Amino acid sequence: MTILIRGGTVITADQTVRADVLCEDGKIAAIGPDLEAPAGAEIVDAGGQYVMPGGIDPHTHMQLPFMGTVASEDFYTGTAAAMAGGTTSIIDFVIPDPQQNIMEAYRTWRGWAEKSAADYGFHVAITWWDDSVHADMGTLVREEGVNSFKHFMAYKGAIMADDEILYNSFSRALELGAMPTVHAENGELVFQLQKKLLEEGITGPEGHPLSRPPAAEGEAANRALRLAEVIGVPLYIVHVSAADALEEIRRARDAGQRAYGEALAGHLTIDDSVYRDKDFTRAAAHVMSPPFRAKEHQAALWKGLQSGDLHTTATDHCCFCADQKAMGKDNFAQIPNGCAGVEDRMAVLWTHGVNTGRLTPNEFVAITSANAARIFNIYPQKGSVSVGADADLVVWDPAASKTISVKTHHQNVDFNVFEGMNVTGLASHTISRGVLTWKDGDLRATRGAGRYVKRPAYPASFAALAKQAALHKPAPVKRD
Ligand code: URP
Ligand code: ZN
Ligand code: ZN
Repeated sequence: MTILIRGGTVITADQTVRADVLCEDGKIAAIGPDLEAPAGAEIVDAGGQYVMPGGIDPHTHMQLPFMGTVASEDFYTGTAAAMAGGTTSIIDFVIPDPQQNIMEAYRTWRGWAEKSAADYGFHVAITWWDDSVHADMGTLVREEGVNSFKHFMAYKGAIMADDEILYNSFSRALELGAMPTVHAENGELVFQLQKKLLEEGITGPEGHPLSRPPAAEGEAANRALRLAEVIGVPLYIVHVSAADALEEIRRARDAGQRAYGEALAGHLTIDDSVYRDKDFTRAAAHVMSPPFRAKEHQAALWKGLQSGDLHTTATDHCCFCADQKAMGKDNFAQIPNGCAGVEDRMAVLWTHGVNTGRLTPNEFVAITSANAARIFNIYPQKGSVSVGADADLVVWDPAASKTISVKTHHQNVDFNVFEGMNVTGLASHTISRGVLTWKDGDLRATRGAGRYVKRPAYPASFAALAKQAALHKPAPVKRD
């Protein structure tokens, strides 16, 4: 398929330029003024619109088996919905059960993802430790193109990683040139608070944020960052929701650490009043971890994106329908954790970021695609508009608007946390590896068209860290 995008303004993380873009055989073949249309090319009229890299959502959970059920959105429905909102790649998570062979879990997720309509990669969670995990991390990095490992510091009794696992896995990641990432919440504290609240008779969704206070996130962020500091490895903190965690990232970065933070569209725009909704179904539909926070945390997160202490945006797209959320009707700790958003992230961030003046359009590209591509080492194949890059593009109409609703969204879930939000700035066309998958409201995603994207290790930046560490290596004291 050949597509010529004509008359638009190309926006990347560092440039704004009036240019046409020619896509051929899945790649960007030419960028420039007044390009000739090859015979048979489909012309996309981008007059008055922006042409940007397709969004990369670096944090999704399609068809995740979690908390006694399975997320309702699968790799096909979820990536199709993503493309309706201008997102062309996701990075999902392989989450082995404790004691489950890591490679077996990885192959299971690879199998599930074959139906994906958009390109995808995987972070692999380290949920336990022994010599086989050490070896499998090597295989994943060297042979399978996995360059990031996830650690859940919460979910005690299930997938929680304790400090011993963190130490071993962070150290191995450093050897391999892979990025450790953490879900930062103190799982023991959350467990104890859940118990206490339930004993006090607080069983509804209002107990969820009370059991997961900002300090629990700040403590875990600090602990993970301090471990990473001592080990000498970079660290990426997923779904930073609280000023407490952001402060730790800022402190670490000020001290010269390579620390990265991710913010969710939901945490940036929704506050914790949702948990006091009188209607259980509506309150439970917002149960995710970390929870939505008081308004001052949202203001802090926006400042984090503006200052560069937060780098990426994601959704943590993890869908559970009302009947699944009802598993926690009498106990908030049993409500499956997770909310949707993969379709809405770009429009929500444009509306609340660019239209308010908090972000420039170039900064929008940085936080919705380019930074994730750089941090997870797939730049400029993804996250750029450059000749030779994958033709993953969104034609963005800054004047188009809609009201987000479960009635019109494409996500396979019966609730939308952004319900009723008016957004201005929408994808008019989405192009995924050179194929038009969304055109003026017409979703043309193809089951199985997505490809697994290998993400190489980071030899250069890790070699620099190793050099730095060697400079400070203590010598043994020679004694007679
Ligand atoms: O509530 C959430 N975030 N569910 C998905 C698992 C996780 O913690 O990322
Ligand atoms: Zn998480
Ligand atoms: Zn998650």
